Amino acid sequence: MSSLPHDSNTDMTSSLTATYPWTTSPLVTCAPMRLIANASLAAAVSVAGGLGFIGAGSDISTLSSELSQARDILTKANISTSTGVLPIGVGFLIWGAPLADTLAILSKPENIPAAVWLFAPREPEQLKDWTQGIRKATNNKTKIWIQVTSVREALEAVKLASPDLLVIQGTDAGGHGAAQGAGIISLIPETIDAITDLCNSSPSTPLPFFVAAGGISEGRGAAAALCLGAQGICLGTRYLAANEATIASGYRDAVLSASDGGTTTIRSSVYDQLRGTTEWPAGYGGRGVLNASYRDHEAGVSFEDNKKLYDEAVASGDQGWEGERARLTTYAGTGIGLVKKVMSAEAITREIRHDASKILSGTSASRL
Ligand SMILES: Cc1cc2nc3c(=O)[nH]c(=O)nc-3n(C[C@H](O)[C@H](O)[C@H](O)COP(=O)(O)O)c2cc1C
Repeated sequence: MSSLPHDSNTDMTSSLTATYPWTTSPLVTCAPMRLIANASLAAAVSVAGGLGFIGAGSDISTLSSELSQARDILTKANISTSTGVLPIGVGFLIWGAPLADTLAILSKPENIPAAVWLFAPREPEQLKDWTQGIRKATNNKTKIWIQVTSVREALEAVKLASPDLLVIQGTDAGGHGAAQGAGIISLIPETIDAITDLCNSSPSTPLPFFVAAGGISEGRGAAAALCLGAQGICLGTRYLAANEATIASGYRDAVLSASDGGTTTIRSSVYDQLRGTTEWPAGYGGRGVLNASYRDHEAGVSFEDNKKLYDEAVASGDQGWEGERARLTTYAGTGIGLVKKVMSAEAITREIRHDASKILSGTSASRL
């Protein structure tokens, strides 16, 4: 067990909210889900006192326009950030996003985001290039968040890039993550111990903040993650059912109707192959609802036949997500069974924060 250098700071969450002064503790963040977390979703989460991330992914062609839309919403909400940054984050898949062009966009004074989220380098050294580039381009105003999927990756990220924050992603997470990984209940404390030891032995490396991701869909999971040592929580799957998510109604209905996510979702590369999103580095898989595409793959249907059926499902629109014959990619995590209804992103953010706080303050009913 590590000796935590910050033990004397009993209220580390307030430091996190001090860094993002429009936020309320505990910090609730919305994952940068490519194509789904656009300006309206990300801005709504920030308006509710969380930190919303726009999911630029590997394609920055619409980033300027998304930032401009977010700026309009956030300006109307009159959120104060003290350092002049946009009270929003942007997430990049750095195996594919172009660094120089990204820096050109983010360095414009009106675009500087409060945080940038880096995920899935092709080579670990990319983390260093991106971190240094963004810090320089934004005059150190933008905080660096790196999402990691294992203790090893966390150590590597801190040694190479010394990020301001690590997002610790457990294997229950929806969308892409490590093909082999642990759930947050063991991953978070082990990662925090390892990073704390590293920072204690290297005084020039500051201890980052920690945010938990993967399988958290409501207040109970959020409270548990905070008990494990995280200072904030990140949700993706739950926000798929936000009014502001950019999502087909068939996809959203499939999320709402699924339950028992440990058996009804699967992490695999099959959906990437069928969609043609095969540029991901080795070692990653996407977790999504287990449907006919995966069952046919497992049953030995050839890729060509499976792809033909997939393309037909794409052409059928929302029907491609319906019932036993559903085949379309439905990235979502094991927390899918706790996603019951469509709500505004603002209501989701406030509800999770409220419910987690209530549990942690001991005012929630308990059978202990
Ligand atoms: C539909 C979907 C798309 C995602 N896209 C991205 C992405 O583009 N970049 C990224 O860093 N993470 C992405 N993620 C993973 C999230 O960053 C996060 O780890 C995950 O959503 C947390 O687990 P949860 O879905 O159980 O809340 C995605 C997740 C989902 C569900």
